[in-house]
Amino acid sequence: MRMIVVFYSFEGNTKLIAESIAEAIDADILELKPKKEMKSKGFMKYVWGGKAAMMKTKPELLAFENNPQDYDVLFIGTPVWAWTYTPPLNTFLSTCSLSNKKIALFCCHGGGKGKIFEKMQKALEGNQILGEIDFRDPLKKNTDTNIQRAKEWAKDITKTI
Ligand SMILES: Cc1cc2nc3c(=O)[nH]c(=O)nc-3n(C[C@H](O)[C@H](O)[C@H](O)COP(=O)(O)O)c2cc1C
Repeated sequence: MRMIVVFYSFEGNTKLIAESIAEAIDADILELKPKKEMKSKGFMKYVWGGKAAMMKTKPELLAFENNPQDYDVLFIGTPVWAWTYTPPLNTFLSTCSLSNKKIALFCCHGGGKGKIFEKMQKALEGNQILGEIDFRDPLKKNTDTNIQRAKEWAKDITKTI
């Protein structure tokens, strides 16, 4: 079984979890990077980022170093923006057309994840969803506990395959 962790992270929380998962299960890793990253800081980042997420924009991404189609199992992660997944993940999900893959979902948020997993599952119809887990700003709160949670969850998921 070839495994990869695919993620986008704006401020490092999702990256921390993605790297912990990849290390725990010895998976490859693919960071989604928009060609033009959002420049806004402070309050304005919520305005621009939230609007982009709600409008389901699909920013162009830098070329991938790994081909997601080469993998059987994908762990896919994103921060929550406006109760949904981020524009870079939207680009990924709409252009990669994944099907018949085994997929586990993770997200980072500030306390209101909304229906992000339902939305991700809808965009991933035709795949088998193995599980899902969310983390509340793990860089700020309970970092070590969250890293452990991520690692144990990922290992448990691989045992079910
Ligand atoms: C544009 C924007 C919108 C956000 N919207 C939400 C939201 O709807 N609900 C929530 O709980 N957190 C929201 N957050 C907070 C992030 O999801 C949270 O801080 C997350 O841990 C950031 O992950 P990252 O460091 O990988 O970018 C938002 C952050 C940004 C920048």
